[in-house]
Amino acid sequence: MNKIGEQIIRLDSVDSTNNYTANQVRNGSLPHGAVILAVEQVAGRGQGSSTWQSNAGENLTFSVFLDEVNLSVSQQFDLSCLCALSIKAALEQYGIQSSVKWPNDVLVNDQKIAGILIELQVSGTRVRSAIVGIGLNVNQSEFDSLRATSMNIELGHRLPLDEVLFSFIHQFNRLVESSFHNSLGLREQYHQALFGLNEKRLFRDRTGEFEGIIRGTDTRGCLLVERDSEKAIYDLKELAFIY
Ligand code: BTN
Repeated sequence: MNKIGEQIIRLDSVDSTNNYTANQVRNGSLPHGAVILAVEQVAGRGQGSSTWQSNAGENLTFSVFLDEVNLSVSQQFDLSCLCALSIKAALEQYGIQSSVKWPNDVLVNDQKIAGILIELQVSGTRVRSAIVGIGLNVNQSEFDSLRATSMNIELGHRLPLDEVLFSFIHQFNRLVESSFHNSLGLREQYHQALFGLNEKRLFRDRTGEFEGIIRGTDTRGCLLVERDSEKAIYDLKELAFIY
């Protein structure tokens, strides 16, 4: 995959950078690796039916168009690993340690600092392209949710948004390069970064709440949870993680 971030499109206000990117892709006018950054999103989207709230001009809200994915649908979890680990590595450059809450929330001290929304264009069994939407809390100092944090809150000072963006781009390109011949390395790093790994936690599935221990993920990205000494495998949306 060629580098991302060679073209950056800057928007003042948009509904959602993922929607904007999808429209540009439909018009055929976007090159691989383009980054679409908005000062403000008026209808930012989160995973499922959730919204993504971010004060205008305070945080990074952007999408990356990946036109050279070359993965089968069954390998799509590699993309989640790549994005989450790039954010984690960028945070580390600022001295912030984070973990990845399955499937791809980035947490600092149990509080969410970044979210990822990956939307795929699939053809048969291949992923043709992907729009990776990232919301990274940088300078916002107050949140409605108690379970949110920002780089500013963690470090006690504001940061230039562009500097943090370029740090993410650099880490993403570095990880793509290093994982090209070794996607197992990516999985291993994801495994090491998993929030709650080998700890007893509370979960909810369709049968109700239960205590379990996260033991890792399988190659499709399903979560392996030890429950009553047996391993259960959960796909996305089959399991809620109640901390
Ligand atoms: C989540 O944690 O639920 C995912 C949040 C993803 C938010 C980003 S902000 C940039 C991009 N545009 C959107 O509308 N959403 C993603």
